[in-house]
Amino acid sequence: MTTATELYARALGLIPGGVNSPVRAMKAMGLGAPIFAARGDGAYLEDVDGHRYLDWVLSWGPLIFGHADPETVEAVVAAARRGTTFGTATEAEVELAAEIVDAVPSVEMVRLVSSGTEAAMTALRLARAATGREPFVRFRGGYHGHADPFLSEAGSGVRTLGIEAGGEGRVVDFNDLDGVERAIDGAACVFVEPVAGNMGVVPPAPGFLEGLRRLCDESGALLVFDEVITGFRVARGGAQERYRVLPDLTVLGKIVGGGLPLAAFGGRADLMERLAPAGDVYQAGTLSGNPLATAAGLSVVRRLTSDVYDELERKGERLDRGLTPFGRFERVGAMATLFVDDYPAVFRHLLERGIYLAPSQNEAMFLSTAHGDEEIDRTIQAVADFFA
Ligand SMILES: Cc1ncc(COP(=O)(O)O)c(C=O)c1O
Repeated sequence: MTTATELYARALGLIPGGVNSPVRAMKAMGLGAPIFAARGDGAYLEDVDGHRYLDWVLSWGPLIFGHADPETVEAVVAAARRGTTFGTATEAEVELAAEIVDAVPSVEMVRLVSSGTEAAMTALRLARAATGREPFVRFRGGYHGHADPFLSEAGSGVRTLGIEAGGEGRVVDFNDLDGVERAIDGAACVFVEPVAGNMGVVPPAPGFLEGLRRLCDESGALLVFDEVITGFRVARGGAQERYRVLPDLTVLGKIVGGGLPLAAFGGRADLMERLAPAGDVYQAGTLSGNPLATAAGLSVVRRLTSDVYDELERKGERLDRGLTPFGRFERVGAMATLFVDDYPAVFRHLLERGIYLAPSQNEAMFLSTAHGDEEIDRTIQAVADFFA
């Protein structure tokens, strides 16, 4: 019995399904225990039994410089020595807010929270308060965290597990502008991942994001981009920089927290000023703007120069060339999905060869600067061997 199978057996009696987030489970891949991580470095993850995996999951997106990036670790350790939480304002929060406002084109003011779920939930609350409208439009297969309004027909683990949850909102197909036009009347906002990343990667069709902007302007709905995945990933300023379409509100997470629990939402100053204590829309958090998380976020975001994105793009193109022959390969910047008929079989084949893809085709592969040509080529070769 391996340590992982032992831990999993214990976990099943202590934690529902043995995991603290359903996407970690291997059930949909026809396997038992999830990977029990012991450590990571760069593009590699080592489990409790000493297996080393080339990691394309990267904690679901935050680790743009790979695992245990020395500068991030250094920044977190230094911050921890000064205190792990204060529950009052800090300089680093102001610095990180300034970095976000500088990077993300539409964001004039920002609030820091601890998870993408919180950020999305509050962005919706704010859009409803600002417009005085309750309904909203979102997309089938999109994921905005696990707050009630977003769960029906959602992507990510909801879709992988085939869970039918309740939810709110008028649900439309991604890239279906006509559908949005039919649904938008009286809506507070259109809530969208500008590059869908939770039903596998689906790029926006040409004109789709521009069309959303136009329909929102015509109807008085706010446009909310959920850039939890795309923010600082498909460009420093996220999808709004890459596609040059500006939303009213933006939801951020993952990379902005440098691998610690931090997320954010921001946008037009007149909207953001509606938040308490400046305004009357309540939102709060004991650990919001946590000093360890802001230290990690700052250390990462400050190093995201155009050179980083050029490098990721070049690596992405290498993946395109290698993987396109084997299925539908969709990629935008440093996020990608290989859509194949029998994904679980491909997943297991790669895992046996020490390559860890997300245990669901509804998720993306994430490139980091730590993934070199060797890692890319090894992955391509392993996929080719499967199909040979
Ligand atoms: C687009 C998007 N929005 C929101 C979330 C929720 O973020 P969190 O898991 O930090 O609550 C996720 C999580 O993967 C996401 O991909």
